[in-house]
Amino acid sequence: MPKLKIAPSILSSDFSRLGEEIQAVIDAGADWIHIDVMDGHFVPNITIGPPVVASLRRCSTVPLDVHLMITDPAEYVAAFADAGADIITFQVEAAHHPHRILRQIRDLGCKAGVVLNPGTPEDSIEFLADDLDMVLIMSVNPGFGGQAFIPDMLRKIRNVRAMIGDRDLEVDGGIDGTTAAQVIEAGANVLVAGSYIYNHDSYLEAIESLRQAEAG
Ligand code: DX5
Ligand code: ZN
Repeated sequence: MPKLKIAPSILSSDFSRLGEEIQAVIDAGADWIHIDVMDGHFVPNITIGPPVVASLRRCSTVPLDVHLMITDPAEYVAAFADAGADIITFQVEAAHHPHRILRQIRDLGCKAGVVLNPGTPEDSIEFLADDLDMVLIMSVNPGFGGQAFIPDMLRKIRNVRAMIGDRDLEVDGGIDGTTAAQVIEAGANVLVAGSYIYNHDSYLEAIESLRQAEAG
């Protein structure tokens, strides 16, 4: 099992103080910063574009994990790579040619991954596995922070872990101290958490409690 990594999602942070909010979770032990890009088409919300990622790149000392929830990922991966993304994932449901996009992301020098919505079966990645660095399993429907974890996703995590060997398996949505233990047990090693960390009085305690979930 690859190393456990905690990736706070800035979606639940105070956007008027983004630089400070990122520094605070890095100081509290964040391994990656998870950035949710939403276009108002693929999901019913609009968030962050390449200029913001470029600014965040200058104030982050850890990898930027950019999650594209947009209808036309192929058109935008270069802009996010130029902005300084280290990891780019895109929703497999939005891609006509996911295999080509994975290669495009790697050619741009980034780590590449696909994202599966809760209703998307894992067999959609069967023939992509050799060309990806990570799979991201959505454990809520994408668009908003603070939703409840969908328990049936534990079965998908187990199945995907069996398909991708020791590559990174990220889970996003409804992660807290309890669900963290469940997803780690099922085979996940990268935990995205937005509201759990940013709504906590102590980012350090929140991140530590996610790490402790591995021991339990
Ligand atoms: C949802 C986003 C998530 C979101 C998770 O569409 O992809 O990254 O920030 O938020 P929580 O951890 O609050 O469920
Ligand atoms: Zn996300």
